[in-house]
Amino acid sequence: MTAPFILSPSLLSADFSRLADELAALAAAGLTWAHLDVMDGLFVPNITFGPPVIAALRRVSSLYFDTHLMIERPERYLAAFRDAGADLICVHAEATVHLERTVAEIRRLGAAPAVALNPATHLSAVEYLLPELDMVLIMTVNPGFGGQSFLPFCLEKVRTLSAMRRERGLSFRIQVDGGVTPGNTAALVAAGADVLVSGSAFFGHPPYKERLDVFHAAAATQAS
Ligand code: DX5
Ligand code: ZN
Repeated sequence: MTAPFILSPSLLSADFSRLADELAALAAAGLTWAHLDVMDGLFVPNITFGPPVIAALRRVSSLYFDTHLMIERPERYLAAFRDAGADLICVHAEATVHLERTVAEIRRLGAAPAVALNPATHLSAVEYLLPELDMVLIMTVNPGFGGQSFLPFCLEKVRTLSAMRRERGLSFRIQVDGGVTPGNTAALVAAGADVLVSGSAFFGHPPYKERLDVFHAAAATQAS
């Protein structure tokens, strides 16, 4: 029996000219989370969208906004993202010097705090903060673009983090992001991932309800 997981579709692979429709289609298909990839052209080479777009989407959707900030010094914009309607705010450990202060500020603002780690960043970057976090995001590609291939060595990192969580009696979620497909879903869930982000492997295969079922079936049948 595989543990249930949440699928958080990355809007990066959605149709940007119809984002409101895309969110409505996700909700109609039974999805409860939407992963919002914010990129600043500095922390990562790509640029996407910021608080004004999220605020506009907030007005038309009640999905849980899982907001992944791939921006330098995210502490400058936490209130703006919270005001825009972010439910969860995930910052990169590599992008902020005073990570504890940044995490505490996210909680003070009333959002769920999460920290993301690039593939090459050791778990020790977040180890002391685990009791303060609602989620840890293990990047399984180098952030910046959708459609990249999953980096297999990251699976071990998920396993190690999951063991750490168990040993310390903590309950933060473990999210994986990058190159997630039905083909690696079972392994990720077995390793301890609770929230799977999927961009190209989800939006590229409508209808969304059926695609969600494919991910769930993959987890159930391949794990043994
Ligand atoms: C990558 C982003 C991901 C990305 C995932 O920098 O953080 O959320 O959109 O896309 P896929 O699933 O296509 O790898
Ligand atoms: Zn992301």
